Amino acid sequence: MNSVLVIGGGIAGLYTALELRRSDTHVTVLAKGTLAESSTWHAQGGIAAVLPGPHAGVGSPTGHGQDSVESHVADTIAAGAGHCDEPAVRILCSEAAAHIERLGALGTLFDRTADGSLAVGREAAHAASRILHIGGDATGEGIAAPLIRAARKDPGISVQEHSFAADLATRNGEVTGVVVLRHGEQQMVPADAVVLASGGAGGIFQHSTNPSVATGDGVAAAWRAGAAVADLEFFQFHPTALNVPGHPLISEAVRGEGAVLLDAAGRRFMTDYHPGGELAPRDVVSRSIALHLARTGGQEVFLDATSLGSDYLARRFPTLTAVTGQAGFDWTRDLLPVVPAAHYWMGGVWTDTHGRTSLPGLYAVGEVARTGVHGANRLASNSLLEGLVFGARAAAALAAGPAEWPTVEADAVELADGPMQAVRGDVQRVMSEHVSLVREDSGLRIAAKQLAEWRSAEGSRAEREDANLLLCSRLMAAAAFRRRESRGAHYRVDFPAMTEGPGSPTILRSAS
Ligand code: SIN
Repeated sequence: MNSVLVIGGGIAGLYTALELRRSDTHVTVLAKGTLAESSTWHAQGGIAAVLPGPHAGVGSPTGHGQDSVESHVADTIAAGAGHCDEPAVRILCSEAAAHIERLGALGTLFDRTADGSLAVGREAAHAASRILHIGGDATGEGIAAPLIRAARKDPGISVQEHSFAADLATRNGEVTGVVVLRHGEQQMVPADAVVLASGGAGGIFQHSTNPSVATGDGVAAAWRAGAAVADLEFFQFHPTALNVPGHPLISEAVRGEGAVLLDAAGRRFMTDYHPGGELAPRDVVSRSIALHLARTGGQEVFLDATSLGSDYLARRFPTLTAVTGQAGFDWTRDLLPVVPAAHYWMGGVWTDTHGRTSLPGLYAVGEVARTGVHGANRLASNSLLEGLVFGARAAAALAAGPAEWPTVEADAVELADGPMQAVRGDVQRVMSEHVSLVREDSGLRIAAKQLAEWRSAEGSRAEREDANLLLCSRLMAAAAFRRRESRGAHYRVDFPAMTEGPGSPTILRSAS
């Protein structure tokens, strides 16, 4: 492989690029904004990994005794509501430690305890403390910065910021390059292979924890090029976004350390909905908040972190202390108003466990990919890990050279534009109302009808982003309509039960 184009400058893209350099491949990394404008950069809680040998999580007050890869596998599968691909989960959890070590070698400084061992925190639905973090709650920046430095230093990696990958170029059913929009100019950039690492699509919804660049560009471009996509009905809402403009995330690690959720009457309500209380799987907590608000007629619930004490909050969560302070809260004394916000797309471009999509020459890693590790609901702090593990596997597959390309059975779907120009705010309103935490047949029909009436324009970056959001919304509504059960993040009032046994994926491809 001579030249590979990587689309995206978060953990998955940069790590893939650095791993590709082991085989001397020349890599171009395209980032839509700057390298710091990624979901990775903003990650707070951490990265889940079971490391060999003793560390702070084993037998710690918040841990549950000896941790194991098997326990991480079990937690991931349980959170995924029986919808994970178990072989992919085993790869994720068992290959974690090697990549954490490599991050260390690249200059990542994970937090340590006073005795020098790695500090590990607890998050929802983890049976043990196994979340590594940096700077307390600045894990994303702590991982991204050394990766960015290493990529910029490597003469075999060319980083091109402000370069929007508008579409994939194909010939005879193979990907041959990328159509790039840069400073208003469109240009075709050829490549031997393309790796999508373009992140998620929080922009589909009114409230999201994602940076503004998360507009579903990778899924949309892959769909237009003919790749299969899978499990798009599963979109995770984070339970605790601060209810102020911009909806900054309040990390799950805060609940992991003991903060609780209260309703407007000051009552702790989560145990009414799940025995795990505030540390139930993320889909359960978000949906319980939505149901509780509907039941009580409230607008928001409150996160109470006051019991953690001002010294501990400042030391363990310095970023959040600043963020909440800037929003006018002293969280050592004040309750924080919180709402669920769109956070992570479990579905994405279908891949095998080597990052290969159904389209020869196209790989996908990180949030844009559906590897099967997250099932119907991602376990907290498994996303940065997925970027590392599957980024490295995609790089290894690329370095190994030609192999039999995987194929997958997919339902063909026909989508057509309507007569009206789409407006992003309208798309977000329809999706937030009918295709978010709680869904039902009538709402999904309203959404599908409305989405079909809009058309998208091709031109500026903003217009193309709107087109991608519209396309991803249509695909999500179509997938949600097909799944006539409730499972993980996909909850249907009209089909409240989960069907028995493991779920089968919803795999779709374009009919045209
Ligand atoms: C958080 O810190 O709560 C987010 C971590 C994640 O999404 O895994």
